[in-house]
Amino acid sequence: MDTVTIFDTTLRDGEQSPGASMNTEEKLRVARALERLGVDVIEAGFPISSPGDFEAVKLIADKVRGLQVAGLARTGIGDIDRAWEALKGGANPRIHTFIATSPIHMEHKLRLTPDQVLEQAVAAVKHACRYTSNVEFSAEDAVRSDLEFLCRVVEAVIDAGAATVNIPDTVGYAIPSEFAEMIRSIMERVPNAGKAVLSVHCHNDLGLAVSNSLAAVQAGARQVECTINGIGERAGNTSLEEVVMSLRTRPDFLPYDTRVDARHLYPASRLVSLVTGLPVQPNKAIVGANAFAHEAGIHQDGVLKEKTTYEIMTPESVGVPTNALVLGKHSGRHAFREKLKALGYELDDEQIQTAFEAFKVLADKKKVVYDEDIEALIAEKVLRLPDRFQMLYLNVSSGTVTVPTATVQMMIDGVVRQEAGFGDGPVDAAFSVVKKITGHTPRLVSFTINAITGGTDAQAEVNVRIEEEGTLANGQAADTDIVVASAKAFVHALNKLEHRKLKVFGAHF
Ligand code: KIV
Ligand code: ZN
Repeated sequence: MDTVTIFDTTLRDGEQSPGASMNTEEKLRVARALERLGVDVIEAGFPISSPGDFEAVKLIADKVRGLQVAGLARTGIGDIDRAWEALKGGANPRIHTFIATSPIHMEHKLRLTPDQVLEQAVAAVKHACRYTSNVEFSAEDAVRSDLEFLCRVVEAVIDAGAATVNIPDTVGYAIPSEFAEMIRSIMERVPNAGKAVLSVHCHNDLGLAVSNSLAAVQAGARQVECTINGIGERAGNTSLEEVVMSLRTRPDFLPYDTRVDARHLYPASRLVSLVTGLPVQPNKAIVGANAFAHEAGIHQDGVLKEKTTYEIMTPESVGVPTNALVLGKHSGRHAFREKLKALGYELDDEQIQTAFEAFKVLADKKKVVYDEDIEALIAEKVLRLPDRFQMLYLNVSSGTVTVPTATVQMMIDGVVRQEAGFGDGPVDAAFSVVKKITGHTPRLVSFTINAITGGTDAQAEVNVRIEEEGTLANGQAADTDIVVASAKAFVHALNKLEHRKLKVFGAHF
């Protein structure tokens, strides 16, 4: 079977999702999960876009050595040099340089003629090839480019040394048959096309990113760029898990394989959701909460008699835990360790100890601790690392006759601060005190609260989205106390906001 290279851009394009951002340590965790998953290339960031991105790319290139680590760069020499500076310590670094080739981008955004764009593309690839032969070139907005000009650019960058040429559907405009035809035409018209791997990078504005990517593979593309949970700019990118499982489930139509170990898909999906604060929609294919839930009686009856009546793949094959072992306050360290393993977490002894202590505290409050409770606990105590703002203490009083009041103690840059204040409810009081302490005044765009499991002692999971001066940030937290969960989610979002504001995506896209 032909192999398709999986190029994951969760840490770069994925991080450009509205409201999502990850700190360096979180990115390293995601990178390690992607390495476990078996992806071939990860795009760890855009080194020139911010010092934080540079540091993250450098750290990942230095430490994650079982795959290729790519860094994004525009065609300017400065971008490419900066990308190389971050990547050079890696085991197999890739420079990914791009420039737009569509008339609309060349005229309005770049203000360059097609010949100037071609010249810059070639110069960039040649410059990058001085550092490494692993150079990828992307023709941004390729789908809306003139095919003849696009073919000229593809031929020229391959001649200049590009080992991979990427054809992005930057605005998610393509239709599968049209996109497949475009890939076929490029392969036929470009005389040296066989010397490079043709790649695709599809956005999901019309919900067609996965379909377009698969159609392109059928037409000859051998690299798919994608993200965990399909996160990314606007409506997102091609979902990695959907591409991988489509190839695995339908080899009769798609006789191509990947190196991905699908049993790590669900744990990777949970990790990305937890660190970005972007929830996965319940009906999301492969990794959504309902992806393997059979509701209708007739379906349940069928599945009980023979699973394949309504299941085209098993939950186990994508790492969805089916182990129904629930834990309680008497469960020991051994059962807890086994549960973590079944949930797909590979933690070191210190992390297991931290998680076990948190589990004991939770088990004292809750009779039964479910898988979802443990995932929330791991997210907060192990996967998310201390950020600039930490909430140390929260006390609220509210009721039918009291004015809702909150006292909050926080640690900011190592300094402990405490304030008290009022609100029109306990959550509002807690949020206004956190705002007073941090000096941030974001608008609350959305607030959702869900019980993670059934039962009145269930943990509440709160998702908030905030906006300040045009920057969005998401936060997520869980607790048996809904006010505590809300305040923790708000603080999580503020940390993301701080991080996000350091980025300068707008200058590049
Ligand atoms: O969508 C796009 O065109 C991109 C490129 C930088 C590959 O993200
Ligand atoms: Zn993109």
